[in-house]
Amino acid sequence: MKKIWIDCDPGIDDAMMLAMVKASEDKLKVIGISSVAGNQYSDIVTNNALKLASLLNIEAPVVRGAREPLIQPMKPCPEVHGPTGLGYTILPETEKEVASEHGISFMYQTIMEQEERVTIVPTGPLTNIALLLKLYPEVKDHIEELVIMGGASVIGNASATAEFNIYTDPEAAKIVFSSNLNITVCSLDITNYCGIDGENIEKLKNSSNRTQHLCGEIMEFAYNQNEARINGLLSLHDVCTIIYLTNPEVYKGIRIIVDVDCNEGINRGATICDKREYRNLQQCNVNWLTDVNQEAWLNVVLRNFWTI
Ligand code: RIB
Ligand code: CA
Repeated sequence: MKKIWIDCDPGIDDAMMLAMVKASEDKLKVIGISSVAGNQYSDIVTNNALKLASLLNIEAPVVRGAREPLIQPMKPCPEVHGPTGLGYTILPETEKEVASEHGISFMYQTIMEQEERVTIVPTGPLTNIALLLKLYPEVKDHIEELVIMGGASVIGNASATAEFNIYTDPEAAKIVFSSNLNITVCSLDITNYCGIDGENIEKLKNSSNRTQHLCGEIMEFAYNQNEARINGLLSLHDVCTIIYLTNPEVYKGIRIIVDVDCNEGINRGATICDKREYRNLQQCNVNWLTDVNQEAWLNVVLRNFWTI
């Protein structure tokens, strides 16, 4: 059983990522969920994280992380994730309460209490992870791996070259990528091609199972936003992190050197990737996923959705 900590900004694909976590509870033990301001403001993403954990019966503490990026102000994207952060969907109320308003120290203490090393799965801006490493550098010895959704080496989404999570907090990403931790990156290079079709979204929305219905309803909002679809599929970017943990065989990756452009200007937030054959392998700091078996990936995701 792998112990994981989820750091997220739900967020439509973050919500589907949590559904995958629930479906994978035989393999993954969630020891905590922290919110980070990104897709929407802190109150919205924190409330969504609480309600999603409750709806999915994920018995893990939910804590509030950073309310703002390290340097630049918040740039939420309601045009992609809607006014509630989950389209227009308002999840059922829950009695679950935020376990701590000081999420970084709670995350640190929880990780340090574990006998095993913990895998952290960030699917929003890396603000919380950067703060964790800066406040408590000794935590590095207790981290097995970071499995990050973020970055792009070919084409961005928040800008021509930058992916949203990195674009929102480039300084945090630079701190994380230079941490010498074991890092695997699910960038747009593959997540753009990890998607679900409208027919399967419709089937979920028509399910008599409330959780499956809500997943379908939430995804339907995003599916209807043109920029969220590639080749007719709704990209489920954050879901790729969990599928990497449960079914790594569907991906291929290479070790590369990654840095982050933190300068002002057109490239701010871009992940600069050195994939040259003659790159210095000693300097490679991440496992960068490069290829995905799309059919195998979707088969795992659909199987998961129909078991929650
Ligand atoms: O670029 C995709 C990422 O940005 C995903 O994590 C999505 O939730 C948004 O946060
Ligand atoms: Ca996200």
